[in-house]
Amino acid sequence: MTEEERLLASSEQDEDVAAANTLRPTTLAQYIGQDAVKNQLDVYITAAKKREESLDHVLLYGPPGLGKTTMALVIANEMGVHIRTTSGPAIDKPGDLVALLSELQPGDVLFIDEIHRLPKVVEEMLYSAMEDFYIDIVVGQGPAAHPVHFPLPPFTLIGATTRAGVLSAPLRDRFGISAHMAYYTTEDLAKIVTRSAAIFNLAIDPDGIKEIALRSRGTPRIANRLLKRVRDFADVADLETADAELVDTALTALQVDNRGLDTIDRKILRLMIDQYNGGPVGLSTIAANIGEETATIEEVYEPYLLQIGFIQRTPRGRTVTREGYAHMGRTYPESSNH
Ligand code: ADE
Repeated sequence: MTEEERLLASSEQDEDVAAANTLRPTTLAQYIGQDAVKNQLDVYITAAKKREESLDHVLLYGPPGLGKTTMALVIANEMGVHIRTTSGPAIDKPGDLVALLSELQPGDVLFIDEIHRLPKVVEEMLYSAMEDFYIDIVVGQGPAAHPVHFPLPPFTLIGATTRAGVLSAPLRDRFGISAHMAYYTTEDLAKIVTRSAAIFNLAIDPDGIKEIALRSRGTPRIANRLLKRVRDFADVADLETADAELVDTALTALQVDNRGLDTIDRKILRLMIDQYNGGPVGLSTIAANIGEETATIEEVYEPYLLQIGFIQRTPRGRTVTREGYAHMGRTYPESSNH
C-alpha cells in the first residue's frame, strides 16, 4: 500500500466497499430512512449554500452499518464539494493530518471514520483546524525548531463513530451538528432491499423482501449482504423469483435466525443464561468467554440485543430478559436476581 492508499483506506472490507459503491444513494432524496437526520441536514445544507459558506462540522454516531459513510458522501454531494475519506487509525501522526488538510479546497469535506480512534496528538491538532481553520506545526529540529502558522481554507469535518461516549469533550464540542443514526425500521429496510434488488437485477417477491428486512438487525449493510447470498441461492436453484422460502433456506444456511441473530449473538445469550443464570454479567466476562474483543461486543452485538429487548443493562452488568430466554427456548428463572 502506498502512503496515499493507507491514508485513504476505509475500515470496510473490499467486497462491502465494491457492493456499497453501486448501492449507495447519492442525494438526500434517494437516501431511505434516518428521517430525523435527513430533515436537520437538509435545513443546514440549504442554509449554508444560501450563505455560500462551508457547512458546520458534523458528527454522525451510531452502530456500524447504518450508513454513516454513505451520509457523508451524500452531504458532500449535496453541498457540491469534494470529499476526502480516511479513518482515525489511518492517521497515526500529525504529518498525516497536515497532508490531508493541505489538499482541501474551500468548502471541501474531510470525512474521518472511527474518529474516536484518532491518536491524541492528531486530535489536538484538529481543535484549531476545526475552530479557526489553522494549524500550528513545528518545523525543524533541536535549536532550529520553530512554529509555523498554517492557515486552512474553511472546510467541513465529518466525523463518524460507533462510540460517541468515548469522544473527548473538546472534540465533541467542536461539532456544530451532531446526528444520531438509528436502527432502520423493517419498512425502510424493505425499501432498501427493493432498491438493491432492482440494481442487482434480481426478481424477489414482497414476502422474500420482508423476510430479509426482518432478519437484517435494522442494518442496511447486513440487508444488502444477505440479499447477495439470496441471489446466489436463487441462481444455483435456477429460480426466476426469490420467495420467502428461498430466503429462509439461504438465511438458515448462513445461521441467521428468525430475529436476525447470528451465531455470536446466540453464543452470548447462551453463555449468559447457562453459565451465569441470566446475569448480571460484565462485558469483559462475556468477551473473554466467547473470544471476542470487549469493544466488538459493546459496539456491534450489545446494541442490537438491547434494542430488541433481549438483554438489559443494569449497574451490575448485563442481564437476559424474559424475551431473551423465550427466544433461546429456555425457561425464565422467576426467582433470579435480575
Ligand atoms: N443502501 C444502503 N443504505 C441505503 C439507504 N439508507 N438508502 C438507500 N439506499 C441504501
